[in-house]
Amino acid sequence: KELISEIEKSTLSSSDELEAFRMRYISRKGAVTELFEQLKTVPQEERRAVGQELNTLKNLAQSRFQEFTAQLEAAAASEAAGPGLDLTLPVVPNPYGSIHPLTLVRRRIIEIFERMGFNVADGPEIETDWYNFSALNFPDNHPAREMQDTFFIEKSTGAVQDDVLLRTHTSNVQTRLMEHGKPPFRSIMPGRVFRNEAISARAHCVFHQVEGLYVDKNVSFKDLKDTLYHFAKEMFGKDSRIRLRPSYFPFTEPSAEIDVTCFICKGKGCNVCKHTGWVEIAGSGMVDPQVLQNCGIDPEEYTGFAFGMGIERITMLRYGIKDLRLFTENDVRFLRQFEGA
Ligand code: PHE
Repeated sequence: KELISEIEKSTLSSSDELEAFRMRYISRKGAVTELFEQLKTVPQEERRAVGQELNTLKNLAQSRFQEFTAQLEAAAASEAAGPGLDLTLPVVPNPYGSIHPLTLVRRRIIEIFERMGFNVADGPEIETDWYNFSALNFPDNHPAREMQDTFFIEKSTGAVQDDVLLRTHTSNVQTRLMEHGKPPFRSIMPGRVFRNEAISARAHCVFHQVEGLYVDKNVSFKDLKDTLYHFAKEMFGKDSRIRLRPSYFPFTEPSAEIDVTCFICKGKGCNVCKHTGWVEIAGSGMVDPQVLQNCGIDPEEYTGFAFGMGIERITMLRYGIKDLRLFTENDVRFLRQFEGA
């Protein structure tokens, strides 16, 4: 009993004291072992009860020893960590990144078209002349094929291959889909495109488009118009309107450019819409029968529409961004404004 209360009262502050504790209560020459040795001198009828008491004493000594050891180790660790380090302080907040505005808008575009039954398709950024130009009815001498617009790929010998290039639009995915699959098609195709243009507030040599393709029996121009009308309302709000202007693309006939009311000035006129109240967001049209044929689809049986919109333009409109270069400069003061968007 004396030993028990001695152990219960003891406190430790150094490894020397810990060693003294071990010698006295734990080691084979210690006080506890000694008591165990005396157990055989205890009368038979009391031996059991005394044995139990001794076990209690032994267990107590061991658990206190472990406790003290852990205490000393923790003290040594915090000493090693240096003075003034408070491990209970909350951590310095580490700010989360934010989603890039182009990604936000791409996701929103996909969401809107998925609800209309479009799926998402994908194609390569390095493309052959066939899928990017020839299958789309570009004549051999079309200016878009020329060096100032298209980045052609060099062979390792340094020779330029005029049949391998960086795609200039996402329309290459249209031709790939049609050539490799069977109608109906109802897909959108987001992606990165490349044109040899000087970088400015309004143009860049790398930008993003979302292509759309709907080919089935009896698809009409009205379907195109309705689809884009619905898209504009979903993307820019109920007050937005669209306008179709006649245009020309080698792969659509008839073709139209699509303008939406300028979201920034709500149609009143500003720098972004050059005071017209309208901003062009897409090219579109009915898939040219020759293109269907180039891709192995019977134009007598199927018709379709296609469009290609610029994600940068839509993002600028949606968030009131006036310089395209902000998208690629990675300035955190710009990017932070989309936290939680
Ligand atoms: N590919 C065209 C461009 O980049 C846009 C477009 C796509 C036009 C589909 C009509 C149909 O300008």
